[in-house]
Amino acid sequence: MIDTETVMPRVARPQSRTFSTAATSAFVRKDGPTMKAIYLEKKAGPEGLVAGEIPRPNPKDDEVLVKVHATSVSPAEFDWFTTFNLPFGEPRPFPIVLSHEFSGMVESIGAAVTGFYPDDEVFGLNDWFVNGAQAEYCVAKATALARKPKSLFHVQSAVVPIPALTAWQGLVQKAKLERGQRVLIHGAAGGVGSFAVQFAHWRGAHIITPISSGNFDFVRSLGADELIDYRTTRFEEIVKEVDVVFDTVGGETLERSWPLLAPGGRLVTVATQSNGAVEPRVRDAFMRVLPEGAQLTWIGRLIEQGEIKAHVGPIFPLAAAKLAYARASHGLRRGKIALRVIDRYASSNEETQN
Ligand SMILES: NC(=O)c1ccc[n+]([C@@H]2O[C@H](COP(=O)([O-])OP(=O)(O)OC[C@H]3O[C@@H](n4cnc5c(N)ncnc54)[C@H](OP(=O)(O)O)[C@@H]3O)[C@@H](O)[C@H]2O)c1
Repeated sequence: MIDTETVMPRVARPQSRTFSTAATSAFVRKDGPTMKAIYLEKKAGPEGLVAGEIPRPNPKDDEVLVKVHATSVSPAEFDWFTTFNLPFGEPRPFPIVLSHEFSGMVESIGAAVTGFYPDDEVFGLNDWFVNGAQAEYCVAKATALARKPKSLFHVQSAVVPIPALTAWQGLVQKAKLERGQRVLIHGAAGGVGSFAVQFAHWRGAHIITPISSGNFDFVRSLGADELIDYRTTRFEEIVKEVDVVFDTVGGETLERSWPLLAPGGRLVTVATQSNGAVEPRVRDAFMRVLPEGAQLTWIGRLIEQGEIKAHVGPIFPLAAAKLAYARASHGLRRGKIALRVIDRYASSNEETQN
């Protein structure tokens, strides 16, 4: 059991199931609507997150205001350029709200938006340079949204956009994986990797995955054909001549993968540590996910048809966001950690009930 007093001293105790507004905020505005949020008041890691009231965002003409029901936790977000900078490197203004994927309901729409209406259930990914979804509301371009799959609860659909779009854009768009091709997927049990395995299986590829043995059954159930325990075996001693490498790990794992490509083979890396690489071939191989509502609609259809599954990990109430980040660094886990803002869904994997 995690010591909640140590990891989340300024946020509501999770047992209370209420959202703490006790933290005094420098961002409360008297002249406009506000919302409850978890945010950073200065550059910091998870320890700097505070709960409070901040101004509610207004949708521009091409944007939708979403009432957030659930979002997810990406621990690496504290290290991303976009978290503290604007596109040309100027500092982003505080308060900064994290988590850019979400599931929720349309609250209102901008003047130029078509295809979405108030009360529509949607999921999506908003712009990396604006505030995210650890809040009651967020804004997103209408083109970055899709209808939420009916079969999923919000906490389940909230963990789909980033990993599923990353896997789709990397494996299908950039690497152009085809039926019958051999693909080596690194990080197959993770958020991105688990979607990559499912997309590769759906496309009829032969899938090879170096993973830790504790994840064998899980990754086999996603459709992997060959499993290698990367903790005991060097994958390059077994793997030869693959058409595609899809890498979510980076570093030495990526380096050892280049010689395994068959002639004409393609390598795509999405690992954070490959971002900003100096080596031209790594720079060319790196891909950053883009918000694409049309692709998300297609992915939602595959989920509704039962072709792929969303794997939600532990679920925390938004007020326990610090605890969620602490959980992310604790041991083996499957599926991405979700934050419940409003949702009827509760289950045994809601860790803060313990
Ligand atoms: N470029 C983009 O647009 C983009 C978008 C999303 C995410 N990302 C980045 O992609 C990376 C993965 O994200 P994620 O959300 O999938 O992370 P995650 O859920 O934490 O999964 C990482 C996985 O990597 C596995 N792993 C660790 N070391 C390994 C190794 N040496 N060999 C093989 N597998 C290993 C772990 O498996 P075991 O438990 O079996 O060890 C774990 O399942 C991160 O760097 C993230 O920041 C980039």
